[in-house]
Amino acid sequence: MSPDVFEKVTALCKRRGFVYPSSGLYGGLSGFWDFGPLGVELKNNLKAAWWGRVVHGREDVVGLDSAIIYNPKVWEKSGHTKNFSDPLIECKKCHSRFREDTLKEKVCSTCSGEEFTEPKMFNLMFKTYVGPVESAEGLAYLRPETAQGIFINFENIVNTTRLKLPFGIAQIGKAFRNEITTGNFIFRSREFEQAELEWFCQPKEADKWFKYWQKERVEWYGELGMKKENLKFREHEDKERAHYAVTAFDIEYQFPWGWGELEGIANRSDYDLKAHGLKYKDEEAGEELVPFVVEPSVGIERSAFAFLLDAYYEEGEGDKKRVVLKLHPKLAPYKVAVFPLVANKPELVNKARSIYELLTKNYQLGPVAWDERGNIGKRYYSQDEIGTPWCVTVDYQTLEDQTVTVRDRDTTKQDRVKVADLSSLFLQKLS
Ligand code: GAP
Repeated sequence: MSPDVFEKVTALCKRRGFVYPSSGLYGGLSGFWDFGPLGVELKNNLKAAWWGRVVHGREDVVGLDSAIIYNPKVWEKSGHTKNFSDPLIECKKCHSRFREDTLKEKVCSTCSGEEFTEPKMFNLMFKTYVGPVESAEGLAYLRPETAQGIFINFENIVNTTRLKLPFGIAQIGKAFRNEITTGNFIFRSREFEQAELEWFCQPKEADKWFKYWQKERVEWYGELGMKKENLKFREHEDKERAHYAVTAFDIEYQFPWGWGELEGIANRSDYDLKAHGLKYKDEEAGEELVPFVVEPSVGIERSAFAFLLDAYYEEGEGDKKRVVLKLHPKLAPYKVAVFPLVANKPELVNKARSIYELLTKNYQLGPVAWDERGNIGKRYYSQDEIGTPWCVTVDYQTLEDQTVTVRDRDTTKQDRVKVADLSSLFLQKLS
């Protein structure tokens, strides 16, 4: 992937309302982002696609939505208060701070200084206080991973469902990390959403399930159109594995700056359940055990970014030059756009408007775009740039035979379709 795709996609995201710097009005806040009208649709579509395959599409996984702030004992027991740290170094000349492993050449990116302090471990958890007094008793943390919410609800879920090993508990929610170095747009931020599955299994079966979830997760990216050649596995070296993991692989994506972590898959062994003193009772075997946990975990914003980069194309020459986001229709913020052929013929505008309203009422299609500005070619290109897979145009023939043209984003081919068949056609294409 050429490095300039990074600039092009980030500029497109800002220009078209996918992503804005958070608090931009006040100069922004490093590591925080707001997701505009298109960004929120993309993120919601991504979350629905993850939840669909990981939870709804199977009988052995249930969902959870836990609080963000837990009793701080959770983080003590889980080892995060002690171990969830990165090595911080400081430039001796200008005092800029860096995560040690992000400085490749050991040269300060602010002042080119080459002398740094010894690395100090810096805990990444954001602190806050619960209650009206800022005292040690009220100290709490914004969760740096959603997984602990699942572990502390393990018994609740086992007791209120009929799940038997192996089974999974899934959660999508906010996570916060006071990252020393943020950057690469939304790749590494301080507030983000994680989609995490904790898969509980017999200890002796953990390796088998680890391989299963590696395969399953890569298939999910493929199902949503991500190019195979842009994905690969990388096993963590001993020193980089998180404190809870016995085995860890990243699914890496070929970002414009090189291969980088897209999703982590870890064998967390019985570390967390043991830490919280939790067990599972196998009624049939009449024994108690502490299951092992296999965990695929992905950041929604990070994967949204990878899908955007992967879908970015520039095609054609001269007047026919277009930018097109070939997002999978399930991910595209708008599935359908509706236009009157020209904006100054009320009979065409009224007819197009009625079709727009009809499609808009079909919530399964998500939001429908409307555009009557400029010429039709410009409108197509404008939708191509945000990834809308189908454009419906109402022309003079529509008034005679109740058909419209449906233009396909990727082929730019147009077919005539009966107005009455539009909703079912799009739903069928999406299914
Ligand atoms: N519960 C396991 C866990 O949190 P992780 O490898 O630290 O593991 C999992 O994080 C995923 O969360 C990463 O693969 C990445 O997609 C996303 N992620 C982690 N830190 C992030 C950050 N600062 N900004 C955006 N996404 C992040």
